[in-house]
Amino acid sequence: GRRVTVRDLTAAKERGERWPMVTAYDAMTARVFDDAGIPVLLVGDSAAMVVYGYDSTLPVTVDDLLALTAAVVRGSSRALVVADLPFGSYQSSPQQALESAARFMKEAGAHAVKLEGGRRVVPQVEALVSAGVPVMAHLGLTPQSVNVLGGYRVQGRGQSGDELMADAKDLERAGAFSVVLECVPADLAERVTASLAIPTIGIGAGAGTDAQVLVWQDLMGLTPRPARFVKRYADLATEMDRAVRAFAADVAAGAFPAAEHTYS
Ligand code: KIV
Ligand code: NA
Repeated sequence: GRRVTVRDLTAAKERGERWPMVTAYDAMTARVFDDAGIPVLLVGDSAAMVVYGYDSTLPVTVDDLLALTAAVVRGSSRALVVADLPFGSYQSSPQQALESAARFMKEAGAHAVKLEGGRRVVPQVEALVSAGVPVMAHLGLTPQSVNVLGGYRVQGRGQSGDELMADAKDLERAGAFSVVLECVPADLAERVTASLAIPTIGIGAGAGTDAQVLVWQDLMGLTPRPARFVKRYADLATEMDRAVRAFAADVAAGAFPAAEHTYS
């Protein structure tokens, strides 16, 4: 079958269907999520933390994410693959945004890109869309701006909610095909969702958005101290700990490899 397209996602909103997005950073997890029917895979700059071990998303580069994006595209056959534009790769100018996005599409095979920010990135969104690059926007807690926001905290409370709403409408008008709403009050996310024709994708934004996204290591229980908005659907850290200890014990005892793992 063919890949999911950005039009499929708008059509899903028209039908009132909710859908899941998960992050992916390698071919094997991409294949598992793709086979499970996840329609959109995000190669998030959260890779800075969960893949590369940094303590924020700021250090990760286009080159760091290109290789991961290419792996996710190779590992999937049905999902729309969205690549995050990392910090510093699009803020300077629409031209810089287009050069970065073109690398993700040409060198890695991404189908769309995501960038953070409201009205200040409207020129970038317009340039990308007119060049044929579908753009996912990202409002609320935008981790690339953590040093301006003063930490990872809820955004859009009180008056700043009106600004977020205005940003969302401007991004839709600029041609974005969807918008991530991160760590915002549920009632604001609901109002934004009702005001836009494009789908909203929530993370820490309550149950009223069109879609939901989680970082896969969070949803599988690999991250040690997940945020309040995370639900763990598995406990992979415990399972992997058990498995690797069992392997270590078998090696120490001479119980692995057994005859069936051995060539004669
Ligand atoms: O980088 C990321 O994983 C993201 C999602 C949490 C939306 O931007
Ligand atoms: Na991100």
